[in-house]
Parts: sequence; structure tokens; C-alpha cells
Amino acid sequence: MTNRWQDAQKAELKDWKNNQVCDFELKEVEKKYKLFLKQLAETIKIGKRWKILDLGCGPTCISRYLPVSIKIGLEPLAGKLNLKNKLIAGIKILEGKAEKIPFNDKYFDLVICRNAIDHMETPQKAIKETSRVLKNKGYFILAVYVYPYPIALFKKLSEKIPFLKNIEHPFTFTIQSLKKLIQKDFILKKEFVIHTGYHPNDYGKVNEKVSKRTLLEKTAIFINFKVFREKWFVKEYCLLLRKK
Ligand SMILES: C[S@@+](CC[C@H](N)C(=O)[O-])C[C@H]1O[C@@H](n2cnc3c(N)ncnc32)[C@H](O)[C@@H]1O
Repeated sequence: MTNRWQDAQKAELKDWKNNQVCDFELKEVEKKYKLFLKQLAETIKIGKRWKILDLGCGPTCISRYLPVSIKIGLEPLAGKLNLKNKLIAGIKILEGKAEKIPFNDKYFDLVICRNAIDHMETPQKAIKETSRVLKNKGYFILAVYVYPYPIALFKKLSEKIPFLKNIEHPFTFTIQSLKKLIQKDFILKKEFVIHTGYHPNDYGKVNEKVSKRTLLEKTAIFINFKVFREKWFVKEYCLLLRKK
């Protein structure tokens, strides 16, 4: 018996094993975040000796662009991706989930989590854990794709329709629901739109068996996977947060 999260992770693993996807993601992260993180590091004066946790780091490890010496990446697929206990771009990768971070309370100065919270099993638990492992007033950079409410609702409904399901994303956030998720544990310091517009993974992959579908199904797939990921409907959004 597998649950929703395990199904998502199976699809995620298949994706990461396709090197082209990994290269593409890395280029995207570089394009969108390199300069942004450099500017952010100046705004919040990141200390060289800070301890940083990269939650759901994947093989891309966005924290590679942060100028700090002690970096840990936590990734549930670390073993299966042959990354476990390896050093990738100066980041020590551990296997584990954000819902159970294998570190003591108040260990990290900064946690960064990009494009992973909507992939998790229980985002609320991950937020609590992030707060637990952060030092008092520690920083949390949380970035994820967000959708306007009607689209988010449509995405939630598509969960019930196998051929429309966005398998890799068990959760869908709006800006409002993202802020609600963090409000008990974090203070919002700044918010940024990182990027708007097309990204092939915003909505998951177009079902490869699309040619076997009826015209109605094909239309629904087209709308769900192509139209709704245009710039009017999806934003990559980043919250700069401070532990309460
Ligand atoms: C789309 S990838 C993003 C990887 C990287 N952060 C980036 O921006 O390129 C999402 C990652 O979240 C990981 N993930 C899924 N569930 C998780 C959980 N419960 N805790 C931590 N990471 C998780 C997945 O295994 C996957 O590698």
C-alpha cells in the first residue's frame, strides 16, 4: 500500500534519474536564484560560519549559491539517487525528511527550501521542524510555485481525476495559504516574486498517453498542463521569514 506522498516520490525519482531533467533544473535554479541569493545574502548579512540547511535539496542543491562554509542538504531520495553522505557543491547530503529533521533544536542559522514544500507528505510538520532546528531569530527562505485561488482549486479537484493528477505535487499553494502555513512559527520579513511564467514542471508532465484520450480528455489535459502554467496563472514566490 502506498500513500500519496510515496506515489509522488516514485515519480520524482524517475525524473531525477533522467539527467536531462537534472541539468535543466540546475540551469533554472542558476538563472532564477544566483543573483537573488547574492542580493539576499547582503540584505540579511549571512555570516561565513553560519550553518545552513537545504531542505528537499535534490541533486540541484540551491544552497550552493550561498556563501557559507557549513551546509547540509536533506533529501529523502538521497540513497536512491546515490547522493547519501556525499559532498555536492560543498553541501553534505543526508537522507531524511523535512518532517523529521535529524538535528538538535536551534542548530541552524538559516534554512532554505525551494520548490519542495508542495512535494512533502505533511508541510505543516515540516514547518514546525524547521522552526525547531533554527536558532532564535534564525532565517528561513521558503520558495515555491503559487497559484491564484481558482486555479489552486482546479488543481485540487484534478487530484481526483487520474489523467489530470499532478503526481509529483501532493499539495498546491496560493500566496495566502502559504502565508497561513508559516504564520504560527515565523514572522514575514519580505516577499518576492522570483519568476512568472512557463516552466515545464509547474504543472507536472503532460501525460504521454495523451493520444489515446478522447477529445474532451485531451482538451482538459491541454488546459490543465499548458494554459494554466502560463504567466498569468503561476508564480514562483519566495518568503523571507524569521523564527518567532
Ligand atoms: C522539485 S525538487 C526540488 C529540488 C531542489 N530544492 C531545487 O530547487 O531544485 C523537490 C524535492 O523535494 C524532495 N522532497 C519530497 N518530500 C520531501 C520531504 N518530506 N522532506 C524533504 N524533501 C522532500 C523531493 O525528493 C525532491 O528532491
